[in-house]
Amino acid sequence: MPRHRGTRDMIRERTVTKTGDQKDTVQSSRRIMDEKKTPFCATKKCLLIVFVGLLIAMGIVTAITLLAPAVRGRFPPDLPWWKTSVIYQVYPRSFKASNGGKVGDIKGITSKLDHFVYLNVGVVWLSPVYESPMKDFGYDISNHTDVDPLFGTVQDLEDFIRQAHAKDIKVILDFVPNHTSDRHRWFQRSIDMDPKYKDYYVWRNGSNDPPNNWVSVFGDSAWNYSKTRDQYYYHNYLSAQPDLNYRNPDVVEDMKGVLRFWLERGVDGFRMDAVSFLFETKNVSHNEQPNPNFKCPLNTSTECKKLFHYWRHNYTMNLPDNKILIDGWRAVLDEFERKDGKTRFLLAEARVTSQAVRDWWFKTGSDMTFNFELARAVYKNKHCGGTCIRDAVEKEYKDLPEGAWPNFVLNNHDIRRVTSVRDRNFVNAFNMLLLTLWGTPTTYYGEEIGMVDIAPTFAQSVDPKGLYYGEDLYLNFTRDKSRSPMQWDDSSMAGFTTGPATWLPVSDTYTDINVQKQKNSTDMTPIKVYRTLAKLRQQESFLYGKFSYAVVNNNIFSYIRKAKGFSSYLVAINFGDVSSVDDYSGEPVSSEVGTVVVNTANFKDDTYAVKKVISLKHISLKPGEGLVIKL
Ligand code: GLC
Repeated sequence: MPRHRGTRDMIRERTVTKTGDQKDTVQSSRRIMDEKKTPFCATKKCLLIVFVGLLIAMGIVTAITLLAPAVRGRFPPDLPWWKTSVIYQVYPRSFKASNGGKVGDIKGITSKLDHFVYLNVGVVWLSPVYESPMKDFGYDISNHTDVDPLFGTVQDLEDFIRQAHAKDIKVILDFVPNHTSDRHRWFQRSIDMDPKYKDYYVWRNGSNDPPNNWVSVFGDSAWNYSKTRDQYYYHNYLSAQPDLNYRNPDVVEDMKGVLRFWLERGVDGFRMDAVSFLFETKNVSHNEQPNPNFKCPLNTSTECKKLFHYWRHNYTMNLPDNKILIDGWRAVLDEFERKDGKTRFLLAEARVTSQAVRDWWFKTGSDMTFNFELARAVYKNKHCGGTCIRDAVEKEYKDLPEGAWPNFVLNNHDIRRVTSVRDRNFVNAFNMLLLTLWGTPTTYYGEEIGMVDIAPTFAQSVDPKGLYYGEDLYLNFTRDKSRSPMQWDDSSMAGFTTGPATWLPVSDTYTDINVQKQKNSTDMTPIKVYRTLAKLRQQESFLYGKFSYAVVNNNIFSYIRKAKGFSSYLVAINFGDVSSVDDYSGEPVSSEVGTVVVNTANFKDDTYAVKKVISLKHISLKPGEGLVIKL
C-alpha cells in the first residue's frame, strides 16, 4: 500500500468491504466530487445568495468582536498555570526519606506525589537538591548539574518531573545564582588563578584588613582572605559561599547553561534565590552606613556592628545591573517556550525594602517576586488583627502596575511558622486567607496540617545563622525551627523515615498533628479545610475576580471576590483575640443572606454549617474562625 494516499483513493478503497447502504454513501460522495468539476455559482440568483450570506457572516464577526469584553469576563483571561495554581514548597531534607535515612530524598518526594493531588496544588517547588557540602543545607552548590547523593540522582529527579507531569503537576527548581560553594571547581580554579576562572568571583586586594566594612547576612565581615591568592573574596552569606562575579561574561553564560541543563530535563521554571545580591558596587572603597532603625539584640556595639541588619546595604543590594541578568535568564526560558509553546515560570526571592524597589522588581524579567508582607506583619505583631492583616494585603494590591500579578506567602524555610508565632488554632484562618486572596499563594510543607515550630537544643541545632549567636541567643535566630521533618502519621519518626534518627528532631506534636490522622478524621480537619479551599480557589471569582474589602476592624478581615458572570463570595475571618459579632449586609455586600460554603470548622454547633443559608446581619466569629459565604 503506498504511504501517501489521497482522500479520494481512501474513499474508493473502503467501498470494497462496505455494506449496501455504505456503498451508496460512498458513491454519492463520488458524485459530489464529480459535480465539483462544474463552475461554482454561475447564476445571478446564486450570486445574490452568496452576497447575503457574506453580509450575515460579517455581522456575526462584528457582534463577536463587540461582545469580546463580556466573553473575556467569562473565561480565565489568558491565565498561565502559575496564576491558577498553588505553589507548594518542599524542603527536600525534611519531606520524606525513602531509604530509612536521616534526611529526605527525591524518591521520597516522588512517593508522595498523591499528597499534592489530594491537596489540589498544581506546582511543586523543590529547595536545592544539587551536589553540596551542605554548609547552608544545599544553598551552597558545588555542582549545579548534578544531584547530591544524599537526595538521589539526576535520573531520580527526571523521574520525579515525569511522574509529576503525568499527574498534571508542574515542577520548579531552586536556582541559586548569587554564589556557589567554596568546594565548587570554579572557585577552586579561581583560587589557583586559572586564567579562565580567576575572575569568576569577586576578588579584591586588602592590606591587613578587608577592603571595606561590608558585613555578611550570617554575620561578620563579608570578605574572606585567601592566603593562596593573597586577596580577599566577597561572600554575602557564609565564607563557604563565595559570590559569583557577573561582570565576567563567562559567568553569565555558564549560569545560563545551568538553566538550559534543567529546562532540557523538563522543569517548568525556577525560584531564583537571593537575587537582590547579584551585583555589588564595583568600587569597593565605599563603606556602608549604620541603619538607624536597627535594634541590636547583642550587648556591645562591637558585636552589633558585626550583624547584617546593623548596616544599610546601599552598595550590595538591588543594584540596577541585576535587571539585565534576570532579563537574560528570562530570555533563556523564552527560548524553550518558543520551541514547544509551553509557559515557563521565573520567580524571584528578593529583598523588597521600599515601594520604589518593589516597582523596580515588577519591571524585571521575573514573573513574580515573593511578597512576604503577610508573614512580616504577623512577625512584627503576633496579635495582628483584621486591620493589621488588611494593611499587609493592601501593600501588595496598592499601586500594582498594569498587568502585574500579586502573590502571598506566610511561611518558608527561612522564617518561623506563623502558627507558632500566633497560635496553632489560627491554622485554618491563615489558610483561608492565603487561598482566597487574589494572587498566587505559596504553601510551605506542613502548612496544610498546621505544623508548628520545633525548639531544638543547642546541641541539636545545625543552622549556621542561629549558631552564630551562640548558646544564649541561637533560638531567637535559628531557622531549624521551621525545618523539622514532615508529619505523615503517628508511627515513630512521624512516618518521615523508617530509620532510627532524623537530621532535626521530629516535633513532639506529631501524634496529634499528622496527615494520616487529619485525613482519616470524620471532622473537618485543617488538611480538609485546605484542600476544599484549594479546590474552591479554582473558580473564576477566586482566580481573577475583583477583590473588595467588606467589614474590616480590629478583629475581622473580610472581603468579596467576584468575577463578572460568576457567583460572588464573601470571606470573613476573625484574626483578633476576642469574639466579634458583625453586620456584613451593608455595602459592598448589599445582601441580607448568603450560603455557607466553607467554615474553618472551629464551630462547636451547626450555626454556620456548610450549605446553610445564614443571615449576614449578625455573624459571630471567635478568634481564628472564618467563613466563605456564597452571596
Ligand atoms: C536564600 C535562601 C536561604 C539561603 C540563602 C543563601 O535567602 O532562602 O535559605 O540561606 O538564600 O543561599
